[in-house]
Amino acid sequence: MKYNKLFDSIVIDNKPVGKNLYLMKIQTPDGIISNPGQFLSFLVPDKTFRRPISILNNHSGVIELLYKIKGDGTKYFSTLKSGESINFTGVHGNSFKVGKRNLLIGAGVGMAPVYYMYSMLKEQNIPALLACGFREEGEIPVCFKSEFDFISTDDGSYSNKGSIVNYVENLINNFKPDNICVCGPVIVMKLISEIAQRHNIFCQVSMEKMMACSIGACRGCVIKIKDNGVIKNSAVCKEGTVYDSRVVFYDLVEGGEDA
Ligand SMILES: Cc1cc2nc3c(=O)[nH]c(=O)nc-3n(C[C@H](O)[C@H](O)[C@H](O)COP(=O)(O)OP(=O)(O)OC[C@H]3O[C@@H](n4cnc5c(N)ncnc54)[C@H](O)[C@@H]3O)c2cc1C
Ligand code: FES
Repeated sequence: MKYNKLFDSIVIDNKPVGKNLYLMKIQTPDGIISNPGQFLSFLVPDKTFRRPISILNNHSGVIELLYKIKGDGTKYFSTLKSGESINFTGVHGNSFKVGKRNLLIGAGVGMAPVYYMYSMLKEQNIPALLACGFREEGEIPVCFKSEFDFISTDDGSYSNKGSIVNYVENLINNFKPDNICVCGPVIVMKLISEIAQRHNIFCQVSMEKMMACSIGACRGCVIKIKDNGVIKNSAVCKEGTVYDSRVVFYDLVEGGEDA
C-alpha cells in the first residue's frame, strides 16, 4: 500500500539500543498499512528536506524505527520524548517479494527492512532466516540480539568474525533459500548479488539514496538500472527501494547509506 500522504503521530517510546543507535516507537496514524521495504520521511524543524527512515515493524497500532545518529536530523530524533508529536510523509516505496525459503541479510541499520520482512514471515509461518552483520558488538541493537539466526561482527567482538558477505555461501548451502533479501552498504549488496547469481537464486536489494521529495518528483534519488536490456533511470523513492539485484549498476551508485 502506498499513500504519499502527510501524517502526524505521537512518540510512544524512544531509547538508545546501541552505539549511536535508537529505537523509536510511534503511534500508527489512521491504522496505515505498510510492507517490508517501505519507508517514511520525517520532518526535522528548520530543515528543508525530510529524513527517510525504513519501517522496522508496524503492528498493533505501533510503528517501530531503528535509526543511527548521523547528523542534525537524526540527532533531533534522539531528543524526542514520549508524548511529543512527529510528522512524516508515507508510506513510500515498494516492498520485498516473498519466496518459499527466505534468506534475509542486513548490514548495520540496513537490518531494519529485512527484520520487518523476517517478523512478517514468521507470523505467517513461512521459512525465513535472519543473518545480520555489524562493525562491532556495540552496533548490534541489544533488544534484537537474541532474535538473529546468525550474526557476524567485522572485528570479531561478538559471534562470527568478519563481514557477513563471507558467510553467505555457507548460509545458502545450509538453508537452501529460493529468495534472498539484502539491505546494507552498496558493496555488500553488490557482492551478495554476485553470490546469488552464481547459485541461481532470486535476490532483491533495498537501495538507499539521498532523498529530497520521496515521491518521485525531484529525480534527486535516481539510479541507473537495466530494464529488459535497456539502461534507464529509476527513482529509488518511488520505483524502489527494492530491486531485483541483477538490474542495478552498483558501481554507479553514490550517496547510499554506509550503515
Ligand atoms: C529509503 C531510506 C531508508 C533509510 N532507513 C534508515 C533507517 O532505517 N535507519 C537509519 O538510521 N537510517 C536510515 N536511512 C538513512 C537516513 O535517512 C540518514 O542517515 C539521515 O537522513 C541522515 O540525516 P541527518 O540530518 O542526521 O544527517 P546529515 O548528514 O546532516 O544529513 C544531511 C542531508 O543528507 C541527507 N542524507 C544524509 N545521508 C543520507 C542517506 N544515507 N540517505 C538519504 N539521505 C541522506 C539528509 O536527508 C539531509 O538532507 C535511510 C535512508 C533511505 C534513503
Ligand atoms: S527523492 Fe525526489 S524523486 Fe526520489
